[in-house]
Parts: sequence; C-alpha cells; structure tokens
Amino acid sequence: MKRLHLLPALLSATLAVGPIANALAIEPLKVGLVLPMSGPFAGYGAQIERGVRLYLQEHGDTFSGRKVVLIVKDDTGVAPEISKRVAQELVVQDKVDILAGFGLTPSAFAVAPIATEAKKPMIVMNAATSAVTTKSNYIVRVSMTLPQNTAPIASWAAKNGIHKVYTVVADYGPGHDAEEQFKKTFTAAGGEVVGEVRTPVKNPDFAPFLQKVKDTRPDAVFLFVPPGEQSIGFMKGFAERDLSKAGIRVIATGDLTSETVLDPLGDAALGVTTSFHYSEAHNSPENKAFTNAWYKAYGQERPDFMAVGGYDGMHLIEEALKKTNGSAEGDVFVTAAKNLKWVSPRGAVSIDPATRDIVQTIYIRKVSRVGGKLQNVEFDQVADFKDPGKP
Ligand code: PHB
Repeated sequence: MKRLHLLPALLSATLAVGPIANALAIEPLKVGLVLPMSGPFAGYGAQIERGVRLYLQEHGDTFSGRKVVLIVKDDTGVAPEISKRVAQELVVQDKVDILAGFGLTPSAFAVAPIATEAKKPMIVMNAATSAVTTKSNYIVRVSMTLPQNTAPIASWAAKNGIHKVYTVVADYGPGHDAEEQFKKTFTAAGGEVVGEVRTPVKNPDFAPFLQKVKDTRPDAVFLFVPPGEQSIGFMKGFAERDLSKAGIRVIATGDLTSETVLDPLGDAALGVTTSFHYSEAHNSPENKAFTNAWYKAYGQERPDFMAVGGYDGMHLIEEALKKTNGSAEGDVFVTAAKNLKWVSPRGAVSIDPATRDIVQTIYIRKVSRVGGKLQNVEFDQVADFKDPGKP
C-alpha cells in the first residue's frame, strides 16, 4: 500500500524536471575507450585504463546524474585501420556519447574524422603529435605535445654546456615534431645539430645508429622513441657500446625515463636529464593523493604520465558535464571544455580555448635514486607553457 502512495509523488517530481533533463538524468554516459591493450604498446592501454578507473573510484562513477559506463576496445598499437574500425563500432553499435583514450598518434589521426562526422567529443589521453587537435573540432587533449616537452630541454641543454647534439627520433608524427622543435630551439640558442636520424616505428635495430652517433662524437644525443621496448633497447645499446664512456650524454623528452620503464632501464638511466609534464616524484598534495590511491588500488605497478592522462581525461569530462547539465552533445561539450582549469597530479593545467590543447608546467628533471627507487627528480620548470608547435 505504501508503495502505491509514493507513485504519484514520484511521477510529478519526474515531470517537474522536464522530459529532456529527465532523459539525460537517467541515460548512462557511455565512454568508449580506444586503446592499445595488446602488442608492444599494451602497457599504454593498461596505464590509461587504470588512470580512468582510478578517477571513477576516487570521485564516484556518476557525472551530473549520469552513470559512467566504460567500453574498452583494443586497437593493438600502431594500426590506424583497427583504431578506425573499433571507433566506428563504438559510435554505431555501442552508441557511445564520448570517444576517449588514444595511446598513439596514428590512432588519433584515424579516428578524428569519425568524431567530426558523428559530432562526438574525442578526449585524447596520450597521442602527442602537435597536429592531432587540428584534425577535428571535437578533439580536446589532456596529455601533452612533443614540441611542448621538447623546447624546454633544448633550451636547458644550450645553457648547460651541451653544444653539439645528434638527434635520434622515431620516424612518425611525434618524432618529426620532436626533431623539428629541438633543432629550432637549440640552434636559436647557439647550439649545433651535428647529425640527425629517423628510426623505424616498428622493430627498430638501433645498432647502426648508435655506431654512427659514437663516430660523430657529439656532446649529447637528443632522443624520442615511444617508451617501452624501444627506449629500453636504445639505452641498453647506448651502455653496451660505451657511448657514455665516450663522454656522450642523453637528453630527451621524459617519455624516455617514464616510471614504467625506469626499473627495467636500471642504472643506465641514472643522470639522464629530460623535460616533461609529469613525474611520479612531483611534490604536491594532489600528486601524493594520486600516487597513494594508485598504489592502494594496483599494488607495485608504478603510475606514469599515461595514467595521469587517463585520470585527467575523466576529470575534464566530469567538469564539462557540470557546465552542460549533463549533455555530452559535441558542440555544447567542447564549448564547455574550453577554458577549463584545474590542479592535476602534475600541477596546474588549463585547456587553451583557441587550440583545445593543454597548457601546463613543463619540468626539467634528472634521474636519481630516491629511497632506493629510480625517480625523475624535478629541479627547474617552465610554467603555463603552451604547445609551441601550432602554426
Ligand atoms: C604518440 O604516438 O603520439 C606517442 C606515443 C608515446 C609517447 C608520446 C607520443 O610517449
């Protein structure tokens, strides 16, 4: 009997909210994650997905009244055709509201036209070629760009006794961006690029490149290769061929010494100086809370910048939805996402309304042992740094 009495009250409350608001309130928010979950870049997918899930665990899984439902699709790494197919499935079959993830640039490039056509927000949580955000007006990026992380290390090197540099980059978007920005900033500061080489994205053999570098005897190598097997392979080869004994240093964007590869790199990483937007050792209350929650949830596995990309991506979705009263409609959502500002585990960040790219502090760091653990210890910074790679 009691239940029956409640029914009219419930109905009138529902009607008072209005049919549209009510429909949104009860519709789940489907977020389709396109990520490399298998193959050589499976670690990227694992970090990003864990960052995403940690955010929901810490902040609740309902954004503006809508329960967040995650649908994860494996695009296997550098495989644009697969990224495109799984994104199409997410839009057409799963009817997702938002596309997110994107571990590698070819994946983001492949999916951008789908976001445009379907008018779906596309939240880039890693892919870092500068041009990614220009490929669709529905893209918002919470990770970084390679030029953004390259310019500060190029300036630092020129001011710190490094005059001649050999650049080694992976032969695809982020590598090309890193090479171009390094040359621009370093030569403008009086440095000289004495050699440059582009290495294959798939299964590179670094031996001949390392030999060439050794013969040229630069002060340092500037390196960008996607972290994982490749960065470990390069650094092992560097040590085995005695390049450091020959007095050659390694400088890089911080992908090279990301926390997930630091332990396998071991002492070969000690002293490597990089510039980057996130370090596990970043000293702030927000990062302490993030890393504590991470270790509690996932045990020994270390968080790196990709985990923070996933975490911040969910923060951006939650905050944009607060402004739109729960609507994820493409144009409304992206307008709300522009100008968002928050304090991430990496430090203060904001979305540049002109480019939909992230503005953030880039830190100069050196790998050192802290309490027995290899860490990227920050010692200098460039605050509020926008991507310098945009035309
Ligand atoms: C990319 O493919 O855009 C990419 C991958 C790994 C990184 C940075 C960029 O560390």
